[in-house]
Amino acid sequence: MKRMTLLVLASAAAAASAAPKADIARGKEIATTVCAACHAADGNSGVVMYPKLAGQHPAYTIKETLAIKNHKRLTGGAASMAPMVAGLSDQDIADVAAYYSKQYPKPGEANPKQNFELGAKIFRGGLADKKIPACMACHSPNGAGMPAGGTEVAAYPRLSGQHQSYIVEQLKAYASGQRKSGMMGDIAKRMTEEEMNAVGNFIQGLH
Ligand code: HEC
Ligand code: HEC
Repeated sequence: MKRMTLLVLASAAAAASAAPKADIARGKEIATTVCAACHAADGNSGVVMYPKLAGQHPAYTIKETLAIKNHKRLTGGAASMAPMVAGLSDQDIADVAAYYSKQYPKPGEANPKQNFELGAKIFRGGLADKKIPACMACHSPNGAGMPAGGTEVAAYPRLSGQHQSYIVEQLKAYASGQRKSGMMGDIAKRMTEEEMNAVGNFIQGLH
């Protein structure tokens, strides 16, 4: 019950932050015909190299789709997505982002034997001695993220339920500077691979 309430609040907040008026029906059409092959029609991709998009803040989905379309984000498999979205207009991208933000994010599972305690500690409290802040300070206690609407931060993205390996890949890309972000770069640089794996495992099961 509590989770449902949080989800409803999170998607209401997400909807409020979508800039241009979005056409959800048109967004569904684009998701089904263009994105589904990789991200699944409901955004709950079952393939670890394709991030889950269900329940994501539309402002963040718009920003990242544009970054990949415009070859500004080149990490991982981004190059395979770029040609698929090359023909989409800003309105198309706003529509599909709004559609995915309204899809139910299916909860994932963490492996209780894979450094679960360390992952939980990093997410909820950070590691003060290494100046690693608690992830939940920006990504919210249940990992649903937060709308932002500022010029620098489009939204604090939803992380909960995301594939562990995708989370780890992003942290490595932020640490190396391959993926640019003022906030995440400094944080990821201070993390060991073990810590990245632990927090990724915890996030995969978070809901
Ligand atoms: C050919 C497969 C493919 C298709 C089709 C595709 N994507 Fe992607 N997408 C990817 C891959 C791979 C990544 C991860 C890139 C990385 O590793 O950094 C990605 C990442 C993303 C991200 C970043 C997610 C995040 O959490 O940062 C967004 C947003 C996104 N895709 C939206 C879309 C939308 C919207 C469509 C349809 C209009 C689409 N993609 C179509 C493969 C695809
Ligand atoms: C000070 C705020 C802040 C804190 C603390 C923070 N993040 Fe982030 N995080 C962000 C912002 C903002 C973004 C979006 C950055 C961008 O636009 O590339 C982000 C993006 C991410 C992404 C990419 C998500 C995706 O879908 O591609 C991951 C993974 C991530 N953060 C993990 C973490 C982890 C793990 C921690 C804790 C160790 C953490 N973050 C702590 C602000 C924060």
